[in-house]
Amino acid sequence: MALKIWLDGKLVDEADAKISVFDHGLLYGDGVFEGIRVYNSRIFELEAHIRRLYESAKAIRLDVPMSKSELIRAVEKTTEANGVINGYIRLGVTRGVGTLGLNPFICEDGRLFIIADNIQLYPEELYEKGMKVISATTVRNHPLAVPPQLKSLNYLNNILAKIEALDNDVPEAIMYNHEGYVAEATADNVFIVRNSRIFTPPLEAGALEGITRGIVIKLAREENIEVVEKNLTRFDLYICDEFFLTGTAAEVIGIVEIDGRVISDGKPGPYTVLLRKKFFKYAHGKEK
Ligand SMILES: Cc1ncc(COP(=O)(O)O)c(C=O)c1O
Repeated sequence: MALKIWLDGKLVDEADAKISVFDHGLLYGDGVFEGIRVYNSRIFELEAHIRRLYESAKAIRLDVPMSKSELIRAVEKTTEANGVINGYIRLGVTRGVGTLGLNPFICEDGRLFIIADNIQLYPEELYEKGMKVISATTVRNHPLAVPPQLKSLNYLNNILAKIEALDNDVPEAIMYNHEGYVAEATADNVFIVRNSRIFTPPLEAGALEGITRGIVIKLAREENIEVVEKNLTRFDLYICDEFFLTGTAAEVIGIVEIDGRVISDGKPGPYTVLLRKKFFKYAHGKEK
């Protein structure tokens, strides 16, 4: 069924949801976006996603052409209009139509679009069995160049790493920063478990401040599990007891092999299984 897309203040048919080839979102990846889940007709962590979108927009001096409360309402309307009960929302703001030069300040108003649809990032069986990953040779963007905390429309850095993963027949790649420390996966945050403690790279290592990351840290601490933000090396990943990724689309997924090294007994471990279960309950408001 064709979708109804929110574009610049109203719902239009999918076939009419068009953006100019002169839009700097397309010409230069100049814009920002969010990916948001819907669970049981509830838009998950909507305010946190809207806040992050405005922060990313502020960082690139882009005006979001709506107030936060109007935008929340628009996301809700788009979700309802498409009958999405469990799904995924993509919300983006482009710089708008400009010239073929870079100057963002002569662009017309930015375009704001909202898509409410479905997503299955990884096949369901990988959630049971765990996933294999590789270390990408592509270095994560330097924080002083394009800050990884800025969720921009320019994802080429991540796409280059994703290509490396797919070339190696695995779905995901771990990205390291310019100093060789773990930054994140191509669209997920990284966690490991070692000696009953959970470790995750600090944001300064070059990770997006994942909303799922924040929730999983909170859920772990509620279980009295110690969570430490610390720089991690490739070696730390190789010898850990458990390894998992978090993200809006991925949720919580166990990693069972990296660069040919099997993690523990090759199955998602007890902390991963527990946090996956707790995350499901938190997101859906009920047990699986
Ligand atoms: C590069 C990157 N890192 C991490 C994440 C996970 O963040 P969140 O949990 O907010 O979806 C995402 C997805 O949004 C991402 O694109």
